[in-house]
Amino acid sequence: MSRAARLVGVKRGTLQQQIRAGELKTFEGQILLTDLLQAYPDAQIEDSSMLERVEQIIEQASFINPDAIPRKADNVALTRRIMSLSEDLIRQKRQNRRYRDLFERLQSEILRLSDDPEGLVRLSAWCADALARVDDDDATMDQSFARETFLRVMSAQATVIPSGHEFFVEGAESILEAGLRGGLALNYGCSNGNCGLCKIRVVSGETRRIRHHDYALTEAEKGVGYILGCSNTAVTDVVLEADEAASTADIPRQQIPLRIKKVERPDDGTLILNARTPRTSRLRFLAGQRARLSVDSVGDGLYPIASCPCDDMNLQFHLALGDDPIAGYLAETARANDRISLDGPVGAFVLDEDSPRSLVFVAEGIGFASIKGLIEHAMALDVAETIHLLWFATDGKPYLNNLCRAWNDALDNFTYVPLESDAVARVDESLRESLESGRLDGYDYYVCGGEDLRRRMLQFVEQSAVPSAQLNFEAFD
Ligand code: FES
Repeated sequence: MSRAARLVGVKRGTLQQQIRAGELKTFEGQILLTDLLQAYPDAQIEDSSMLERVEQIIEQASFINPDAIPRKADNVALTRRIMSLSEDLIRQKRQNRRYRDLFERLQSEILRLSDDPEGLVRLSAWCADALARVDDDDATMDQSFARETFLRVMSAQATVIPSGHEFFVEGAESILEAGLRGGLALNYGCSNGNCGLCKIRVVSGETRRIRHHDYALTEAEKGVGYILGCSNTAVTDVVLEADEAASTADIPRQQIPLRIKKVERPDDGTLILNARTPRTSRLRFLAGQRARLSVDSVGDGLYPIASCPCDDMNLQFHLALGDDPIAGYLAETARANDRISLDGPVGAFVLDEDSPRSLVFVAEGIGFASIKGLIEHAMALDVAETIHLLWFATDGKPYLNNLCRAWNDALDNFTYVPLESDAVARVDESLRESLESGRLDGYDYYVCGGEDLRRRMLQFVEQSAVPSAQLNFEAFD
């Protein structure tokens, strides 16, 4: 499913919607290329976009310490992927040749046996016609095959058991980096080969070490296929057995010194803090959780982490200006590179990743901070069919309106509705207008706002026969 979505350039959720509507067939959870092309006859090979992706990978690689990931590893991983694809290609070609030979033999056999050619000649003509059509189809198939081959050279697909989560390993990035980027809550600690917490077992496929690690795996562990996710890349498609955090209880509390990167002021009442963790001490958290920020001789405060765990080094926090000492310090005193301490994460306002339902997010004012982390995480996971965001703000002007509009424009399964703050009183109407009436219980609702919004959402789920467990609320104080 993930590969099919990539191939035709849509989100996975879009394909899921089409399968549900009966517009796209699946067989044992797989989509046949012919069915995919029937649903997307205009799917083009966009060489330029693929080349852009290659350039991106090279660019990202250039930020990485060249001693940590030798260039040779990139070449080896790519060469091995090409070799594995060549083997696939040769197998496919041999099989095609056999079918074609068989068909030609069938055609001549029919002619040879025909005493009374009337019916058999027609059959023979049909064979010739079918062969010609195979040639026509081949042109389209060739294009798609070329595109898929290219994608497979640039990235290997990883499937994690027992969860069944999937992600792509691009270029020669580490399995851990790729898994986090794909929205998985994999187990890890130092990210640089010292702690051993990112141990995973390779069930099938080929991996390759891309950096030296001090942590020593035992011979017994190596014998059954254990590797370190932070120090290995996937060479071919792989199946991995790995631990993932199932709940907030699996995430340890951490104390990390952050460096301030940038403080933005999107409107008169709001500050956005962008901060960075040390490379070897990143923050492991689940989207939607909070962390305590403190500055010596200034004070501290508990804030939602407004970014995605898929980028565990770059953290974002939204603060309301007023009597908050940390917000005051950031607005008046702080400079880039100053230190600020983090303690966390805490909180249980997190996504139910196993839910098959579409997602509805409702934010009031700065309550968007918690919601933003959840939305970015949902996008990284790419499992929700549709995502809807309603944001109540003063004068209907949310402080990150442009970002939400950009999501709305770029993603075919995302809708965004900005609303005036006093429209909270009519949140039920807004939800009924935005969602598929008749299946309001087909959504999970994540809401962050004040007491009035909480009360009205409770009424809404009760009147709409939505099970109360599908409403998740976080107060934004
Ligand atoms: S995360 Fe510590 S060894 Fe991989």
